Amino acid sequence: MNRTALALAGSFLIVAAAIMTVVFLQNRGEIEAASTLEPVRLVADVPEVDEVHEGARAAIPIDHSEPIPIKVYQLATCGCCGLWVDHIEEHGFEAEVEYRTDMAEVKRALGLPPELASCHTGVVNGYVVEGHVPGEDLRRFLAEAPEARGLTVPGMPLGSPGMEVETGHVDHYQVLTFRADGLTSVFAEHGAPTPAGM
Ligand code: CU
Ligand code: CU
Repeated sequence: MNRTALALAGSFLIVAAAIMTVVFLQNRGEIEAASTLEPVRLVADVPEVDEVHEGARAAIPIDHSEPIPIKVYQLATCGCCGLWVDHIEEHGFEAEVEYRTDMAEVKRALGLPPELASCHTGVVNGYVVEGHVPGEDLRRFLAEAPEARGLTVPGMPLGSPGMEVETGHVDHYQVLTFRADGLTSVFAEHGAPTPAGM
């Protein structure tokens, strides 16, 4: 190898090392910048599908006197959710509330058909309890222990527990038993149906 070739090879190595250093520092900067962002919220801490199921399970009799544990997922800012939690605690439940920002993800992970959604979502004895379900209905449902995914009051009917209005008005609404495939049946009805022709 002559001198010129040696000098050329040497300067090539120096340039290559400089480029690699710049790339390394840039990558480190990117990693540091990324780690200052909000961590992505995963749904891993939502009950697994085998915990929430549609099979047979033990009934919880109406006269069961121990507090019944229920997990409730809700937005921290939801006032009607908090009032519903107070309501079910008056019906023998002991709620553990978890504030979430990803309620649509929570509902999807629990197998709630989107058209049956409300605000908060509960899990009790392997069932999903969606929205403003009256405490009496939930107790009767747990006592009957049907093979279903859960119980729901879709939307937010006025006059349902947690959605009370000053006038005492109660919208006509249904409490539905549902399966993850979207099949529903009417479990209870509340409020006066609007007379025909109105
Ligand atoms: Cu609500
Ligand atoms: Cu709610």
